[in-house]
Amino acid sequence: MLSFILLALLAHALPVKCQNLLQQKLNIIILAGQSNMAGRGGVANDTATGIPTWDGVVPPQCQPNPSIIRLSADLAWVQAREPIHADIDARKTNGIGPGMPFANAVLTKDSNFGVVGLVPCAVGGTAISEWQKGQFLYEQLVKRAQMALQSGGVYRAMLWYQGETDTFSQEDVELYKGRLKRFFNDLRSDLQAPMLPIFQVALASGEGPYIEEVREAQLGIGLPNVKCVDAKGLPLGPDGLHLTTLSQMSLDDP
Ligand SMILES: *[C@@H]1O[C@H](CO)[C@@H](O)[C@H](O)[C@H]1NC(C)=O
Repeated sequence: MLSFILLALLAHALPVKCQNLLQQKLNIIILAGQSNMAGRGGVANDTATGIPTWDGVVPPQCQPNPSIIRLSADLAWVQAREPIHADIDARKTNGIGPGMPFANAVLTKDSNFGVVGLVPCAVGGTAISEWQKGQFLYEQLVKRAQMALQSGGVYRAMLWYQGETDTFSQEDVELYKGRLKRFFNDLRSDLQAPMLPIFQVALASGEGPYIEEVREAQLGIGLPNVKCVDAKGLPLGPDGLHLTTLSQMSLDDP
């Protein structure tokens, strides 16, 4: 579904002539948020050691593709391979996230799309306050996106999946919508992409009791070109917090 919406948005946004030109370029897709964006599909605690371990299972929808590259932590373009956040969310064990299935789906639906340049930026356990302008994660995101642009890219979309950490306190919940809006607005402004399509996933789970309240803020964000995909009800892993590999892939089901 996400990839259909992206292609529809782009088709409306660009005249045909312009589209042909842009097809030569690198299509930049930013991935940001916390653990469910970084990807924990296939990660479980090892029964013997208790250490979180990825099972290494990569379904066809997440396989590497010569047309999908990824900006590494040291700002080099490399072929994208799961787990694509391994060197970004480096303190955690990463597994399957939504980035590869999204990129593969876009290319399957539009074989003329060109090269997809994924810019992974998600870090597990991060609150929306850490994604505000001036904070480390925000500045890293802007820096990585600008680097991607300098290599001849065009901003196509940001996929955003965050909020589980903001379900603890009533105060954070009340501030959530304002912080989220400010983050989206500041980012669009700093990237000079005022209509950057943003695909936001509404929470399926949370670390605290205020999941519904954060979901309401997300679903009611009310900004142009922000599309919400609801993850509520998707099967979660054994920790009750993280989307399974199948759930991650179903975010892109038509
Ligand atoms: C792994 O174990 C930790 C500590 O007991 C627990 O908090 C976490 O939810 C477990 N993770 C999974 C994927 O089961």
